[in-house]
Amino acid sequence: MKKSLLLMLAMALGAVGSATASEEGAVQRGAAKAFYCTGCHGYNGMGGSTAVPVLAGKDKTYLVEKLMAFKKKKSSIMGLQLAKFKDGDLKDLAAYFSSLKATGHGEASFERDIQPIIQWRCLSCHTAGGEGEAKSGLSLASYADLMEGTEQGGELIVPGSAANSSFMVMVTRKDHLRMPFGAPPLADDEIRVIRSWIEQGAKNN
Ligand code: HEC
Ligand code: HEC
Repeated sequence: MKKSLLLMLAMALGAVGSATASEEGAVQRGAAKAFYCTGCHGYNGMGGSTAVPVLAGKDKTYLVEKLMAFKKKKSSIMGLQLAKFKDGDLKDLAAYFSSLKATGHGEASFERDIQPIIQWRCLSCHTAGGEGEAKSGLSLASYADLMEGTEQGGELIVPGSAANSSFMVMVTRKDHLRMPFGAPPLADDEIRVIRSWIEQGAKNN
């Protein structure tokens, strides 16, 4: 009785162990194929131009589904990229890009990347007593304030979707309301890391 329980435990552990090993294998195989992708999706899958989405740290199942769907649309940009890849390759690529978060590579951080930008470029106006706070009600003094948005404009950040986050519109629009107000625009690198951070879930990390 005792023996068979132990045997079952050993088998269960063995199964877990081999699942992890095959996952690592997929990540490694995906890494070897990923150079086809980084030209557009950026170093470590962090996104290139505004039209190319971040892949790093996204859910693996989500990425596989997207890739399978693209592969069927042969005439699209991504369909053309994927023509030479088999279904197994797509799973490896998804495993690789998804793993970039777990390894810490490629994950944007609120504290390290976003807060300094806000501090230097926005806070002078968007904190108690500042011109921007007075006019729009928007405080950017903390993560909580940023995520709360404003009464008038609602949510500024939609976690997981830079395209639906009005914050991105405010820092990239071309008219006189572009933020920072009356000052030079944010640098491309700054805009890119904000996009990545939102796409990766806009976490308080
Ligand atoms: C020529 C540029 C280019 C290359 C090379 C490229 N992509 Fe893309 N990729 C795009 C563009 C543009 C989009 C957005 C298109 C869309 O959503 O219809 C995209 C979208 C995606 C998406 C959907 C992401 C999301 O969250 O919606 C995935 C996944 C993806 N690419 C993976 C890959 C992989 C894996 C490779 C390498 C095999 C690759 N891409 C190579 C340009 C490229
Ligand atoms: C020089 C002062 C100033 C700076 C610096 C500044 N803002 Fe503003 N901000 C304003 C003013 C003024 C308004 C109100 C504009 C209006 O509606 O007329 C505003 C409005 C906004 C709004 C609209 C809020 C709403 O829902 O109505 C957002 C979002 C915003 N700012 C974000 C930012 C970000 C992000 C930065 C830094 C990258 C920034 N601002 C830097 C002055 C500033």
